[in-house]
Amino acid sequence: PTVAVLAGGLSHERDVSLRSGRRVAEALRGTGAEVTVHDVDADLVPALRQLRPDVVWPLLHGATGEDGSVRDVVRMLGLHLLGSGPRASRLAWSKPVAKTVMARAGVATPEHMALPQALFRELGARPVLDLVVEHLGLPLVVKPSRGGSALGVTLVASRDELAGAMVECFSYCGTALVERAVVGTEVAVSVLDTGTGPVALPAVEIVTDGPYDYDARYNPGRTEYFVPARLDATAQAAVAELAIAVHTTLGLRHLSRTDLVVDDDGVPWFLEVNVAPGMTETSLLPQAVEAAGHDLGAVYRALVDAAAS
Ligand code: DAL
Ligand code: MG
Repeated sequence: PTVAVLAGGLSHERDVSLRSGRRVAEALRGTGAEVTVHDVDADLVPALRQLRPDVVWPLLHGATGEDGSVRDVVRMLGLHLLGSGPRASRLAWSKPVAKTVMARAGVATPEHMALPQALFRELGARPVLDLVVEHLGLPLVVKPSRGGSALGVTLVASRDELAGAMVECFSYCGTALVERAVVGTEVAVSVLDTGTGPVALPAVEIVTDGPYDYDARYNPGRTEYFVPARLDATAQAAVAELAIAVHTTLGLRHLSRTDLVVDDDGVPWFLEVNVAPGMTETSLLPQAVEAAGHDLGAVYRALVDAAAS
């Protein structure tokens, strides 16, 4: 098959996406697939029209890649899309929306507030921040409502740190998601569906000596990963079940990665889901694939074949 991998684009995660794109292309070429990698700009439409690839795989992280807009374009061109459709991507891309949908489906997710920057201008910062602490307590996590790779994310331990965390967050997104911080084991569960139903890969446990921030994610050696995660059998099953519930409830396709935390009582809490999970050397989905004993190229090829049919 011919595959057009879309990577780069204009988002804060441009470099990560280029790395994901390169690595996936390499693995796919090893299976005999013909792969082109496109750095996404206005030339995308004429390029895809001319090429008419069997499958388009958006490995774009961040806005336009994960918010569904480029996926709309692929669909409009009548091409086969690998991954979630535009509508499901939009639901997943908004952290508050995804959390609300999953909470209604009975999944535990930390209590949160979504705060548009305009609210601070209208009411003043102090009353809003007071309300946040009164309602959610401390510690808190402040993150862009839409974003990735932990950019703009701050763990807030005291009231003094909250204003600075909001400023940092608003430099990435006009709406902040403020959620109660859950202490426990951070894990990511990837789900694959090559046409026979969604299957959860082994959970990857993330251990860092500080926050799991951009540097810890992409500089090899900064983070220690345990695959499978050091959870008991009950918790292993619970996180797999949660990731599959997220994948199916939000209507995701082919692949996703759910990020969650398991508290000290073994309860998994849903944090977010990624429709274009990172595929770099240090990313989580490829680690899970390999830990499950699968060949990366073979798995990517199976996804391509599923998308092509
Ligand atoms: N947003 C990055 C790429 C990830 O979720 O892996
Ligand atoms: Mg994410």
